[in-house]
Amino acid sequence: MNIDWSKLGFHYTEPDYIVRAAYHDGKWEEPYATQDKFLHLHVSATCLQYGQEAFEGLKAFRGVDGKIRIFRWRENAKRMAKSAEGLYMAPVPEEIFGKAIHLALEKNIDFLPPYGTGATLYFRPLLIGTTPRLGVGPGRDFEFIVIPSPIGPYYPGKFHCTTFVVNRHVDRAAPFGTGTFKVGGNYASSFRATEPAHAQGMDCLFLDARYHKYIDECSAANFIGIKESTKGQSTKYNEIEYLTPRSSAILPSITNDSLMTLAREQGYKVTRRHIRLEELSEMSEAAACGTACVISPIDKVIDPEKNKIYHLSDEPGPVLTGLYHALRDIQFGRAEDKHHWCEVIEN
Ligand SMILES: Cc1ncc(COP(=O)(O)O)c(C=O)c1O
Repeated sequence: MNIDWSKLGFHYTEPDYIVRAAYHDGKWEEPYATQDKFLHLHVSATCLQYGQEAFEGLKAFRGVDGKIRIFRWRENAKRMAKSAEGLYMAPVPEEIFGKAIHLALEKNIDFLPPYGTGATLYFRPLLIGTTPRLGVGPGRDFEFIVIPSPIGPYYPGKFHCTTFVVNRHVDRAAPFGTGTFKVGGNYASSFRATEPAHAQGMDCLFLDARYHKYIDECSAANFIGIKESTKGQSTKYNEIEYLTPRSSAILPSITNDSLMTLAREQGYKVTRRHIRLEELSEMSEAAACGTACVISPIDKVIDPEKNKIYHLSDEPGPVLTGLYHALRDIQFGRAEDKHHWCEVIEN
């Protein structure tokens, strides 16, 4: 194995093995590792014809103590089960999900980046409908696949900000549509907003599809805003509020959930509610959050249609920088994991 970890980008590096398990006649088979990265799939499989597919993303870290930590994989298993139910697929039992992740790690252990490189081993669990069917409807056969890939640090240089752009001509997901599920269709349908934004070195901030008034989420990450205000009658104190959208169209982010817990522990007020786009002007900091980046601070949000620019902070602000390091420290074993988020593997 000859990987230059420092040159590893944030893209797919082919692992030695993937792990697969099929579902037929109402039963899951035991997950097995294979070097064959190709599927023998019927051209009429429901995943191809009707987009019956769901996926996940999670990471394993080599810690400062040399131990391996897999971050909150059970939460990913639960979320994938919800996505599966949302698309009429057989949910992958937590036990099968866990076995597949552990087998993928064991068989690709040389791909787990060493501590200190900032790189991690990413797992992409995938669930697809494989029943051949041309009449519109769900299949009865499924394949669960775990694809591991080492990925470089999201911030190879300095922790930095990204500019986001609002687009009212493309919605990511309808209210009560499939936005709460992690399914491929949500992403494919966002490309016509995300690709033009990426081409300009920016990312997308999606608004709620019904009113185009409230912040929903970023293209592949939840939104966080930080508001600071002075409170108290006689003894004045500075209240820091961690705000994140309530919406029936966004993915319940495991990173956001973890950051909310850490924010409460740091004495911040945590609020999940509808957030009007204009409230950006009252925020001192804002960011996208997700497994890939942990936190991606936002310097400004451009609303081209309204000819408006919301300026946040040019450099990552102190509240979000603190939360970013707090979570990374837990993932790399540098801080106590009070909530038992990491499964620790001695190796
Ligand atoms: C649309 C969307 N929202 C939010 C997230 C962040 O979720 P998590 O923190 O579980 O990675 C992701 C990435 O998985 C995503 O694709």
